[in-house]
Amino acid sequence: MATDRTSIHGQWSSRWIFILAATGSAVGLGNIWRFPYITAEHGGGAFVLIYLVCIVLVGLPIMMSEIMLGRRGRRSPIHTMEVLAEEEGRNRHWRLVGVMGVFAGFFILTFYSVVAGWTLAYIVRAVSGMFTQAGAQQTQDIFAALVSDPERLLAWHTLFMIMTVFVISRGVKKGLEQAVRYLMPALFLLLLFLVAYSMTTAGFSQAVAYLFKPDFSQVGPSTILVALGQAFFSLSLGMGAIMTYGSYLSGRASIPGTSVSIVVMDTGVALLAGLAIFPIMFTFGLQPEEGGPGLIFKILPIAFGQMAYGRVLAVIFFTLLMFAAWTSALSILEPITAWLVEKTGFTRLKAAIWSGTFAWILGLGSLLSLNLWSGVKLFGMTFFSLMEYLSVNIMLPVGGLFISLFAAWFMARSSSFAELGLSRRAYLAWKVGAMFIAPAGVILILLQEFFGFLG
Ligand code: TRP
Repeated sequence: MATDRTSIHGQWSSRWIFILAATGSAVGLGNIWRFPYITAEHGGGAFVLIYLVCIVLVGLPIMMSEIMLGRRGRRSPIHTMEVLAEEEGRNRHWRLVGVMGVFAGFFILTFYSVVAGWTLAYIVRAVSGMFTQAGAQQTQDIFAALVSDPERLLAWHTLFMIMTVFVISRGVKKGLEQAVRYLMPALFLLLLFLVAYSMTTAGFSQAVAYLFKPDFSQVGPSTILVALGQAFFSLSLGMGAIMTYGSYLSGRASIPGTSVSIVVMDTGVALLAGLAIFPIMFTFGLQPEEGGPGLIFKILPIAFGQMAYGRVLAVIFFTLLMFAAWTSALSILEPITAWLVEKTGFTRLKAAIWSGTFAWILGLGSLLSLNLWSGVKLFGMTFFSLMEYLSVNIMLPVGGLFISLFAAWFMARSSSFAELGLSRRAYLAWKVGAMFIAPAGVILILLQEFFGFLG
């Protein structure tokens, strides 16, 4: 039996709303900003293939584990881990998994909100027609002008954080649900439209080959870790975001079916984003490798500036990206806010303002590292890239590792079996995945990063 606990924060109106919300969390800058530029940095097809393997073998079992733990604990991640550990007669320190998740969430938000701010800034630039007939040099200059201007970045970062705090403060039913109900379908429509456009361009077949024909000579030592980190980041796994959303899920909904839908939609959007973006680049003779984190911001406007209806398409594209970032940022702030509410008895509004303000302050580090502090390096990385590296490549995989270990090794079989509600065969498949494949994958990949034995 599933437990009859309920969450003090409320419950999703339906399983479908949960799928929308979790997909809204998963689909974000990770799919549309990060996936293309990381793919380009690691040579295309081979990276995509390794990424897909990570999604299926590591991501899916951990997704099911996170939703299961959340729904059983019915609290924010720290308290969920505490309650479940106690219930299963395990050490209370499992709560540290949740604690690390809170840190990972803040680390991610530092750069997430800044990049989301770029999308807001680009909506304005697109509306004003700034990209019309712009060449490569001009779009580079537009991007450089934005990131080198701390005041402008600050304004957009602040606006984005206020938008996020606003929705979170309204709670599960009035905030999150209302946001995803309209934003997610709009996003799918806009993306499909862009892919349809890209299919008519001359670079489409080249882009398909680039994304789906693996060239393993491009695989470097850290490629596998980067693909693994991207799988966690894109699926919102490893910090308790999906666990928190799971804690608002009705006891009757099937976890495996739900997980598969979310994973398929997230991966579909990343691939669609690739199929929308790379054809345009190839059509205009642009090189993906040169983009870096500014890839879509520097390269796409050139294409938009030359194509028919490019101004409208650009507005649509950056609006889409902003919506995607918004629904994702909500899920990063939600676990932290829910934890504050449980811990301190604050109202949601007060808790959301506190956590949002803290994330906003940390974000100033990322923001300044793009300009005034660009020379300040720790381990050879700027604050921005250090936060990105630590959270995405280290904390999320480690968090996910412990989540799957707890779910598969430290919970009684009767508990996980009851909560997952699976047929015997499907249960076995989950168990093998969460017990052996996912943990072994994460451990091996982390070890090879630090000792370099595969590279
Ligand atoms: N998955 C989101 C994206 O692809 C980002 C995100 C939202 C996230 N919530 C998360 C990443 C929790 C890690 C953990 O943009």
